[in-house]
Amino acid sequence: MTPTDGLSQAVASSPPEGVAAIVLAAGKGTRLNSDLPKVLHPLMGKPLLQRVLETLCQLSLSQITVVLGHGGSQVSDTLDALSLSTPVHRIVQQPQLGTGHAIQCVKAVWHTPPLTSTPKTVLITAGDVPLIRPETLRTLLATHQQHHNHLTVLTATLTEAGSYGRVLLDGAPEAAALQSPSASRSAHSPQVLRIVEAKDATPEELALQQVNTGIYVLDWETLSPLLDQLSANNAQKEFYLTDLIALAVGAGFRVGSCALDQPDEMLGVNSREDLALCHQVLNQWTLNRLMCQGVTVVDPDQTTICPEAEIGKDSVIEPGCVLQGAITIGEGCLLGPNSVLKGQVTVGRGSRVLASWIEDSAVGDYCSVGPFAHLRGQTVLANHVRIGNFVEVKNSQIAPHTNAAHLSYLGDATIGSHVNVGAGTITANYDAIRQIKHRTVIEDGVKIGSNSVLVAPVTLGANASVAAGSVITKDVLAGSLAIARQRQTTIENWVTDRQQSAAASAALEV
Ligand code: UD1
Ligand code: CA
Repeated sequence: MTPTDGLSQAVASSPPEGVAAIVLAAGKGTRLNSDLPKVLHPLMGKPLLQRVLETLCQLSLSQITVVLGHGGSQVSDTLDALSLSTPVHRIVQQPQLGTGHAIQCVKAVWHTPPLTSTPKTVLITAGDVPLIRPETLRTLLATHQQHHNHLTVLTATLTEAGSYGRVLLDGAPEAAALQSPSASRSAHSPQVLRIVEAKDATPEELALQQVNTGIYVLDWETLSPLLDQLSANNAQKEFYLTDLIALAVGAGFRVGSCALDQPDEMLGVNSREDLALCHQVLNQWTLNRLMCQGVTVVDPDQTTICPEAEIGKDSVIEPGCVLQGAITIGEGCLLGPNSVLKGQVTVGRGSRVLASWIEDSAVGDYCSVGPFAHLRGQTVLANHVRIGNFVEVKNSQIAPHTNAAHLSYLGDATIGSHVNVGAGTITANYDAIRQIKHRTVIEDGVKIGSNSVLVAPVTLGANASVAAGSVITKDVLAGSLAIARQRQTTIENWVTDRQQSAAASAALEV
């Protein structure tokens, strides 16, 4: 189900002035058992960290600071390749001594000249919590502001709270029973008393269902001095950021919470199982959105569509389709079964793509692709083009009403309209000696006989014809017929003569 705006408090508004974000991305991700840093694991085609950063970029923040550590140079290379609308800074945490230590590292950089001006409000989130929506973060920021909190924790209620930190809320009966004696009550009567990590929790605390999403908003100037008081006196021997809550409460600051009704958004990725779960949730949200918009998804359990995809109404997506990237499909299309669209792909209205693979290419209106076709490398099909069985098209432009219906390779070709590309036609575009590709130009109305090879660079003029089985190495003038094969020789009675002499020899042997 698409998450409704399930946050209990506050109306989402634009974030307060001068809000910066910190994204924790230094951890190793031990439980993934991977050579790839955790935050670079892809979710629906994008690294987890990229998904988090793109969400943050929708909040008009003043800046984002990413804390790097494990696999830092790899993460940094990924950041270099992104173009994001909010400035992103990097701070290195070495070694990684916990989430609290990560924020201490940020503080050390921010509070060291020449970087002395610090943001007023800081949103802290994690690079491994990829499903949080911008609306949720806006509401968290608004709650923080409206309740005049010094710190606000985004929480959720889970029936299976697993390894998430448990949030002890003021006033909740179970929390009252468990309240730490050191937690003094401030005049503001804080809503959150403390957070206990699952590994440190008592059985009673483990039974609590209110969990920490790992996302917080805090008044930096007020609370950052308390970071120095964090200790690693816990089961994991780490400096926990979550301990800041009890420190803030103890010092009389106001710590509030903002609860998610729809807990799927807070799913964190600590294992491959979590990654698969996030994939499933994100996919389901997308399919639900598309179905609401009038797209038929025949079997949601067998369909993968990334959240970036847009599909026009009355299109039908059959089982086994995977759409991943910047995908735009028009109205009334039929996709599948088993079609894969990857990268930047557009398909116009009323087109059919059957059991085919399309990567970084555009298909016009009322086209037919497949079954078993492969379009790639910025191929552009105009309207009413037909690309049939076992046809591969790479970096080619094909004008309207042209057919290549069977068994062809068309690479680096410019093909006009109303062209018929016979079965088995190949553009020989690669000069293997000089290792360069050449273009083939096929003008309007050309008819190419089956099993022809067009050795590029070569141009077939308008309305030219190529005889079947030709190897074309020279340009063909408009309106001409090119035959480039040996003429047929027919030797009369060749077979019957041989059959008769074979029969005669056999008779002699008897
Ligand atoms: C953390 C919270 C837990 C919460 C959960 C939500 C703490 C102590 N616990 O647990 O209460 O329920 O998130 O998902 O904060 N990281 C660093 N440097 C480090 C360690 C971690 O940058 O030294 C980063 C990781 O890369 C990750 C994030 O911080 O992106 C969270 O760390 P992780 O170890 O996954 O914490 P959890 O056990 O999930
Ligand atoms: Ca985590």
